[in-house]
Amino acid sequence: MTMKKKDTLLILWVCRFDAVIHFAGLKAVGESVQKPLLYYNNNLIGTITLLEVMGAHGCKNLVFSSSATVYGWPKEVPCTEEFPLCAVNPYGRTKLFIEEICRDVYRSNSDWKIILLRYFNPVGAHPSGHIGEDPRGIPNNLMPFVQQVAVGRRPALTVFGNDYSTKDGTGVRDYIHIVDLSDGHVAALQKLFDGSNIGCGVYNLGTGKGTSVLEMVAAFEKASGKKIPLVMAGRRPGDAEIVYASTDKAEKELNWRAKYGIEEMCRDQWNWANKNPWGYGTPDSAN
Ligand code: UD1
Repeated sequence: MTMKKKDTLLILWVCRFDAVIHFAGLKAVGESVQKPLLYYNNNLIGTITLLEVMGAHGCKNLVFSSSATVYGWPKEVPCTEEFPLCAVNPYGRTKLFIEEICRDVYRSNSDWKIILLRYFNPVGAHPSGHIGEDPRGIPNNLMPFVQQVAVGRRPALTVFGNDYSTKDGTGVRDYIHIVDLSDGHVAALQKLFDGSNIGCGVYNLGTGKGTSVLEMVAAFEKASGKKIPLVMAGRRPGDAEIVYASTDKAEKELNWRAKYGIEEMCRDQWNWANKNPWGYGTPDSAN
């Protein structure tokens, strides 16, 4: 979403804001490689505009959606917030740059309180079945693809690599239920207002558990009662082998921890998929 200064000013003219949660950003890795300027323009310029407008109107409390992508290919796991940072694609670089911009903004004026939340792999859907993920085009991420296979929109899941040094050879990630993820934002907001000396703080939002592609597929098959046909393929360029979070800092300082496991993630994602096989669209509008 591209934010225009005049739109933001109009909103600020009618209301007073205590804090902003900044979720707006493009996030497709492959697209960012094809269209880097789109990503720099939208993600970076959008954030700079937002920070300028917040500063101009005296709202200096921000929660920003960063990503575990800033750990690049971690040399060890679990990833702690102190790990060295690097970017392996333009999307990741926008997250890394925005983190650095936020740190500079805080250094320039210590009235700012900023919390950077590094998301691991958000999946699942709202338990109501009314809100879920509906990517345009062919899904890049694992669970939206699995979901589309389950409802019959795609014939099979391609597994990118089964020769990793992991329990079953497939890539391992830290999947987190979107309800836990959103609770993490509430915890971050509370932290901004509890009198702590936050400065520009950073927290991982993950479960601290690693799950392989095959384990995730098995959990989804169990939740949905559907068979997910698999096609084994080579590794996807740029993929890390094992990534999962250390959650100690968020538990200790935000008093937050993930409640849900992969069973609940798959249950709620299937509930959304089953009720909305074409997402927010129709068979005609989907591709
Ligand atoms: C990806 C991005 C990450 C971004 C995140 C957004 C890359 C290298 N990383 O993370 O920067 O923040 O999405 O949610 O793209 N897999 C398959 N078949 C598929 C899709 C995925 O086997 O069709 C495997 C992948 O190889 C990986 C796992 O599933 O082992 C998770 O992949 P994905 O959901 O794309 O997330 P990440 O790669 O962790």
